Amino acid sequence: MFEHIERVPGDAILGLIEAYKKDTNPQKVDLGVGVYKDAQGNTPVMRAVKEAEALLLKNETTKTYIGSHGSATYGEVILPLVLGEGSPVLQTKRASATQSPGGTGALRLAGDFIAQQMPGKAIWVSDPTWPNHLGIFPAAGLTLRKYPYVDAENRLDFDGMLAALEQIPEGDVVLLHACCHNPTGFDLSREQWQQVMEVVRERQLLPLIDFAYQGFGEGLDEDAYGVRLMAENLDEVIITSSCSKNFGIYCERTGCLIMVAKNNEQMENVRSQIAIVARENYSNPPAHGGAIVSEILHSAELAAIWREELTEMRDRINTLRRDFVEALKPYGLAQQYACVAEQRGMFSYTGLTPEQVDRLRDEYGIYMVRSGRANVAGFSHENLAYLTKAIAAVN
Ligand code: LMR
Repeated sequence: MFEHIERVPGDAILGLIEAYKKDTNPQKVDLGVGVYKDAQGNTPVMRAVKEAEALLLKNETTKTYIGSHGSATYGEVILPLVLGEGSPVLQTKRASATQSPGGTGALRLAGDFIAQQMPGKAIWVSDPTWPNHLGIFPAAGLTLRKYPYVDAENRLDFDGMLAALEQIPEGDVVLLHACCHNPTGFDLSREQWQQVMEVVRERQLLPLIDFAYQGFGEGLDEDAYGVRLMAENLDEVIITSSCSKNFGIYCERTGCLIMVAKNNEQMENVRSQIAIVARENYSNPPAHGGAIVSEILHSAELAAIWREELTEMRDRINTLRRDFVEALKPYGLAQQYACVAEQRGMFSYTGLTPEQVDRLRDEYGIYMVRSGRANVAGFSHENLAYLTKAIAAVN
């Protein structure tokens, strides 16, 4: 029965983890998958997380199911984190939180909900976008379409984006990256968010905002600007949030699907449907990651430690961005790569071609996605000299 099944290549991003591990080059550099790394190249467990886990271990009394929407105490802290303390959306009870297995799980819930409740509506994603977006939505049965995002000179193509959004048929879904755009690192300014919101409102589109990197761009509140603008000014918004990166709990699969509706009653109707979608996918989400986040954000002391650790990670990445461009100066390449210092989040679209990326891997043991996306968190003051020399050599 399985004779006809063909072998397919594995996921391009996750495959880099294995390829990097196997490489014996002592100078190898991992700029592949989007995980944070410290100056030693490690992805440590955050202190606030360790302390929360110690408390959980001590106080946990049961491992029973937590329900299709997940833990209510987790939802209680995620909603204000994403939408803002005292948000009018929360005061009017227009937002529902469903704990999900990572941001990816939230995206799939959103995809299934749209396919079931809004048949015939397409989803529009930026070109380029996180490659998994291209898999998740068609797997849920949605038609996928693209709007431009980057021009031929590797700059944000905002005019192209806006012109394309103005042509999207009414009722279609438009996927936006809240901050730290993956893969490019190009984010919208506040004025640009305003313009996008107006087009979305005018054309009656449904925004789905992927919020996987809150706190990695400019700050927890700053990064939520577009999300809050949309939620406060539009009747309906879908937000997929992730705690993988900002709490460093990648393997705990901790995300949230936030559905914003016109009023409380419509929100409850939508919420009842989401419970079914979750039940049919995986029944209940895993509990541990949500419990960690809830423990931290319900404690003023742990929350302060966590915020400090997150600020350190963000500052380190932004410093490395500037130092990378500086280190390219002697090679006359600072201008060409100046965008790296302007982009935000873990990723940079470097402008390196697939052939250059292959040479960096084969000749220097430097690993990144073939699109030229580099995980800037993989830069370090130890490897910058090696890295920039290698980049100069393949230019
Ligand atoms: C990435 O884009 O590297 C991360 O979001 C991890 C993933 O699952 O692809």
